[in-house]
Amino acid sequence: MKDRIKETESRALSEVKAAAGQRDGLESLRIKYLGRKGEISELFKGLSAIAPEDKAEVGKLLNELKISVTNVIEGSFASLSAKPSGVKNSIDVTLPGISRRLGNLHPITQTINRISEIFIGLGFRVVEGPEIETEHYNFEALNIPLEHPSRDAFDTFYLESLGGKHLLRSHTSPVQARFMEKNKPPFSIIVPGKVYRPDATDASHSFMFHQVEGLCVGKDIHFSDLKGCLETFAKEMFGSSTKMRLRPSFFPFTEPSAEVDISCIICGGAAMEKRCSVCGGKGWLEILGAGMVNPKVFEKVGYDPKKITGFAFGMGVERIAMLKYGINDIRMFYENDERFLRQF
Ligand code: DAH
Repeated sequence: MKDRIKETESRALSEVKAAAGQRDGLESLRIKYLGRKGEISELFKGLSAIAPEDKAEVGKLLNELKISVTNVIEGSFASLSAKPSGVKNSIDVTLPGISRRLGNLHPITQTINRISEIFIGLGFRVVEGPEIETEHYNFEALNIPLEHPSRDAFDTFYLESLGGKHLLRSHTSPVQARFMEKNKPPFSIIVPGKVYRPDATDASHSFMFHQVEGLCVGKDIHFSDLKGCLETFAKEMFGSSTKMRLRPSFFPFTEPSAEVDISCIICGGAAMEKRCSVCGGKGWLEILGAGMVNPKVFEKVGYDPKKITGFAFGMGVERIAMLKYGINDIRMFYENDERFLRQF
């Protein structure tokens, strides 16, 4: 009996091997060995004639035989269906194609690109600077004194592991000083990039956002150049009927300084019966800070403020994008919700 079991196993395995790839052949082998009246069933029937003391051992061998033959036959069937059957290399050209949706640039990237394009048209070039800054470039080089609130730990991310001397830049202005130290005027640059402030997140605040800094330095650069440049930008960005106004302001690194508003892109500054939800009825929207570079900033980088003048400005990219696209919650930019992003 044991010999028959062995012989059946090796014969079954070699026959299955020979029938690989043929569905009909495999099916007849399945019936031949595993069918109700198949060879293995027959062997099981012979078990009754076995001496009682051998029954357990022979029964075990028979079970093993059944499992092994079942496994090879099932395995051969499985590899059959994994391979494409039928006509070789057939392509059904009438099936609809797999359409792949094109991605697009993030609205913040698009806004930075648009801002850059406008300033490049005005003769500026784009440079970048580090997001991890020293206190020197973030504050001192910009004439921001020790007692200034922006230097407070509540307003700036200091990096303790780097000895408290480094921080995540709170604005893109430090790149002004970095660039001036390494370059001679005249030049006009813009600096797009990320900035960080430990603000609680809400519809108009984020701990990280983007700015574009501008700096134009040379001989005989006047306030009127600043004004003309920003007015061109405002009209290019928001439409040719956009009006601009300057309000006196203060920044330690510019003197004089101004806050720049554009006429409301929704109500156009018209007195409305209902209060405009974007400008609150004021008719004007603040878009950036600007001014003539403070002589003290020039002195710190070794320029002679008697010979050199310049203007600077800094704008929040999210703010510009929110106004341009009518977005009322800054968090939308960072949630990566495709339904939002797909619209740009
Ligand atoms: N750095 C300022 C801020 O983050 C923005 C700014 C204002 C930049 C006036 C300038 C400027 O270059 O001239 O609030």
